Amino acid sequence: MLIKSDYLVIGTGVAGLSLALKAARWGTVNVICKRLIDDTNTNLAQGGIAAVLGEDDQAEFHIRDTLESGVGLCHPETVKAVVESGPAMVRELVDMGVPFTASVEHPDRPELGREGGHSHRRVIHAKDMTGQALQKTLIEKARAEANIKIYEKFQALDILVGGENGRRTAEGAYVLDIEREKVLTFGAKVLVLATGGSGKVYLYTTNPDGASGDGLAMGFRAGARAANMEFIQFHPTCLFHPEARNFLISEAVRGEGARLVDKSGVPFMKNYHPLGDLAFRDIVARAIDAEMKKSGDECVFLDITHRRPDFIRDRFPNIYRTCLALGIDITQEPIPVVPAAHYQCGGLKVDLDGRTDIGALYAVGEVAATGLHGANRLASNSLLEALVMADRAAAASRELLAARPDPARLSAAPAWPSGRLGHAPREAVVIAHSWDEIRRFMWNYVGIVRSDYRLKMAADRLALVKAEIEEFFEKHEVDADLIEVRNIAQVADIIIRSARRRHESRGLNYNLDWPERDDRNFRQDTVLSGG
Ligand code: SIN
Repeated sequence: MLIKSDYLVIGTGVAGLSLALKAARWGTVNVICKRLIDDTNTNLAQGGIAAVLGEDDQAEFHIRDTLESGVGLCHPETVKAVVESGPAMVRELVDMGVPFTASVEHPDRPELGREGGHSHRRVIHAKDMTGQALQKTLIEKARAEANIKIYEKFQALDILVGGENGRRTAEGAYVLDIEREKVLTFGAKVLVLATGGSGKVYLYTTNPDGASGDGLAMGFRAGARAANMEFIQFHPTCLFHPEARNFLISEAVRGEGARLVDKSGVPFMKNYHPLGDLAFRDIVARAIDAEMKKSGDECVFLDITHRRPDFIRDRFPNIYRTCLALGIDITQEPIPVVPAAHYQCGGLKVDLDGRTDIGALYAVGEVAATGLHGANRLASNSLLEALVMADRAAAASRELLAARPDPARLSAAPAWPSGRLGHAPREAVVIAHSWDEIRRFMWNYVGIVRSDYRLKMAADRLALVKAEIEEFFEKHEVDADLIEVRNIAQVADIIIRSARRRHESRGLNYNLDWPERDDRNFRQDTVLSGG
């Protein structure tokens, strides 16, 4: 069965939905998501959107902070384009009705928060639930748009690639209708990957369960290049509690004066960087890792008890309530925290309009490597990037609607061939075990601190597990877990191979065998060819 539209957008975070809303002005849009529409990383984003809105701020300051954070690998033209579009993107959101927190002194202006690496206050936010506010507004708009059709629990498993004018061109995707256990073909003139990141490649992450790098894995398998995937950002402060899974303690808490302390209450960040608790994220995460290794403790603590309780409750209602429910009153006691995988700074290599190497295939949001983040993303630059790149990709892809043939011709596309070797008995334990194994060795060997030996151990183990998963995939009908574990293995492979190529330490890639930065040989993107 063929389901066709002008656009097929995979993913419903800020990148996918904002692109869908813009594209719906000139085309029909099918939007698919493998879980529920709001089960996205966007929905969990606490901090906010970095944009130059403060009276004392300027685009050149934001550009400078972003370049500094990216340690020589940002693409300056991308940084400039994204930063300069920031205020207009925020105005669009305000017009849509996103309820940003207003300044107390100037209620007609937004309150601007501060986060690590930012020289000025420039993070527009909705208390500590910015992503949720943004997601809710975008969902309401998308549901009200006649040209958009949303399919929940529809999981893309591979891209359908054909040839056009001598070039490999995306024609749609094979999609599992999870509830009906059936693989369908979605055809489109423009295919957009907005699938987010891949935090679930690691044992500990701030990401939701669905963050399995699907778009990156599918795009790479289809032949698109991946860039800079060694740069995985570990957020310094994920709540450490046995009952809390992936709950973030926003960097904005440090922006409002919280300090990282050891179990005796002694602050330690000044020992690592002059900016102390507001140093760049790679530095803070490595400092915490070093403190934990030195002391043998399971976590460090974040202390904001010197601020007034009513301020804390009002500014961070979500964090306050969540911690209190777990028995931690953050107005009275420090919060136990650990670093956790948070954001992939690399992804599918795209141009400034979101085009990948494959015709008619776009990638926006965390799945894409635009050159904005370089070796370390500046906090709150990612929602901004998603908005700007969705806007640019929607506009750039419009010309394809007239230029490309109707996707109806795909009705001759072959049916999904999985399971062609027979229906071997399903053993869910195989998938669960592979998943667990990958996430564990990625955490231990390809985490905050790496070495050549650890990377080799990870590569050797992954080769075995990946081959087993591929064999399993060939012999069984697909289901949601199998699709995800296959993608996890693919993304882990890209991360390990990228990290093994970079014989230096820079930003988020810290290798004990190559502790220095080497601009002569490595001030360049790490690019892997897909296929
Ligand atoms: C946070 O609130 O600390 C996360 C913000 C981000 O990752 O950009």
